Amino acid sequence: PTIFVITPTYTRPVQKAELTRLANTFLHVQNLHWVVVEDSPRRTNLVSNLLEKAGLNFTHLNVETPKSLKLGLSWIPSHTPRGTLQRNLGLHWLRDSFSNTAPPEGVVYFADDDNTYSLELFEEMRYTRRVSVWPVAFVGGLRYESPKVSPAGKVVGWKTVFDPNRPFAIDMAGFAISIKLILEKPHASFKLEGVKGGYQETSLLKDLVTMDGLEPKAANCTKVLVWHTRTERPTLVNEGKRGFTDPRVEV
Ligand code: UGA
Ligand code: MN
Repeated sequence: PTIFVITPTYTRPVQKAELTRLANTFLHVQNLHWVVVEDSPRRTNLVSNLLEKAGLNFTHLNVETPKSLKLGLSWIPSHTPRGTLQRNLGLHWLRDSFSNTAPPEGVVYFADDDNTYSLELFEEMRYTRRVSVWPVAFVGGLRYESPKVSPAGKVVGWKTVFDPNRPFAIDMAGFAISIKLILEKPHASFKLEGVKGGYQETSLLKDLVTMDGLEPKAANCTKVLVWHTRTERPTLVNEGKRGFTDPRVEV
C-alpha cells in the first residue's frame, strides 16, 4: 500500500530546514508519495528545487490562505486556520487523480512540516482499513495525548485534558485514513467556518467514521511514534533593516 503524505507549508526562515528534515525521514519509507501544498500565491523556487532534488515521489501544489482569513480572526489564535485550505487541496488532488483510474491501495496522512516522525509510524499506518489512530506527544499540555483503548482493543474515548468530549479529541498527527474511504466520501473535508479550537480534526473525521470504526495502532496506543515538536523562530536581529548577509544565498 502507498502512503500519501499531505504537508502544508509556508515561507519563513526555517522552511527549508523543516522540509529537508522531513524529506530525509520520508526517504526511508517505501511507497511514499509526498503531496506538498504551499500556502502561497505561487509555487516557490525554494520548494520546487528542494522537491526536485529530494529523490521522493511528490506532487507540488499551492493555495494561498486569504489574508482576510488570517487577519480577520487573528485575535483568536486558535481560529486562524493553519494549513486547512492546503490539506483540502491535497484531498481534492487525490480524488481528482483517481476519479478515472483504479485507486491504489493505501492511506492518507497529514504531516505538518515541523513535527517529528518515527519510521515505525509509517508501517503502523500502512495497513489501515478505514481510519487508524495512535498517540501524539507534546499536545494538549501533556507529554502525550492518546485514544483510550478498551481491553478488547476498541477506541472508547480520549485520554486528553483539553476537551476530552470532542467527538475526535486527536491531533492532526494522530490518524491516517484509507484512500478507499477518502474516495467513498467525496465531500469530506476540513471546515473553516465555525470550527472552534481543537475541532479541526473532528470537522473532517465526523464525515468519515464513528468512534467504534477507529483502528488503534502503535501497540493498542501504548507507544509514542510521533512528536508534535515546534521549531523556535531564529532571531535575525543582526540582519538589520537591509540585511547583513548575501540575499542570493538560499537558507
Ligand atoms: C496545531 C496542529 O498540530 C495543526 O495540525 C493545526 O493545523 C494547527 O494547530 C492549527 O492551529 O490549525 P501548530 O504547531 O500550532 O499545530 O501549527 P503549525 O505547525 O504552525 O501549522 C500547521 C501546518 O500548517 C504546518 O505544516 C505549517 O507549515 C502550515 N501552515 C502554517 C501554513 O501552511 N500556513 C500558515 O500560515 C501557517
Ligand atoms: Mn506545528
